[in-house]
Amino acid sequence: MSQSKSTSIRDMKGRQRVAALTAYDYPTACILDQAGIPLILVGDSLGMVVLGYPDTTHVTMGEMEHHVRAVARAKPQGLLVADLPYRSCETPEQAVENARRLVAAGAEAVKAEGGQAILPQVQAILTDGIPFCGHLGMLPQSVLEEGGYHVKGKAEAERQALLADARALADVGAFAIVLELVTAVVAREISESISIPTIGIGAGSHCDGEILVVTDLFGTSGDYIPRHVKKSWRLSQQMRSAVVEWKESVVNPVPIG
Ligand code: KIV
Repeated sequence: MSQSKSTSIRDMKGRQRVAALTAYDYPTACILDQAGIPLILVGDSLGMVVLGYPDTTHVTMGEMEHHVRAVARAKPQGLLVADLPYRSCETPEQAVENARRLVAAGAEAVKAEGGQAILPQVQAILTDGIPFCGHLGMLPQSVLEEGGYHVKGKAEAERQALLADARALADVGAFAIVLELVTAVVAREISESISIPTIGIGAGSHCDGEILVVTDLFGTSGDYIPRHVKKSWRLSQQMRSAVVEWKESVVNPVPIG
């Protein structure tokens, strides 16, 4: 079942662009499913936009499993992908063990950050029968080593490394690759040179699809809206108004009669 769903995403290349979103809870997963989103990611962005951590390096396997279970209860038609969190994929054995835990929680595929550096882990996951989605470019789990979130692909060495990583992941059997904060030119070059969909986030408009952190789209992840979010619905303002209006109705009720 999950193999066929991941194959469907792979087969969208050149036919239909992939519109993917993250979800971390049951009601949001229901909304995404009703809207026909074909790929729902329980991303480790969970750490920042739901759990209040400063970055994704604090997210644990236990936290990922908890939120994957919640999203899986929505039984979405689209493919449910879960992130392997920080340091959960350091050896092939560990990668398989943790990918299996996410699948047991309800994930139908897993995603991990990195290219050739994690190829043995990716191969082990795929050999275990678990569909795999790559993630290249800016790797949020490396934000501390890299000292921030920087666009990738500007330097020639970076461009070549990204292309080699993307080809390696496609060759080994990944069904798609997320490209995060990659220059539009390099994202296009990668998209044109591999046979699986690239799903961009802050990577220009020439990828085979796009993914957004759903709370950036809703405008509920705080006041900061990343530049790549073309339209944020700023729902937190409406939520705040609802709370203020309700509080007012409790504190100063309109006298009846
Ligand atoms: O964790 C996440 O939400 C992600 C997206 C940014 C692609 O990996």
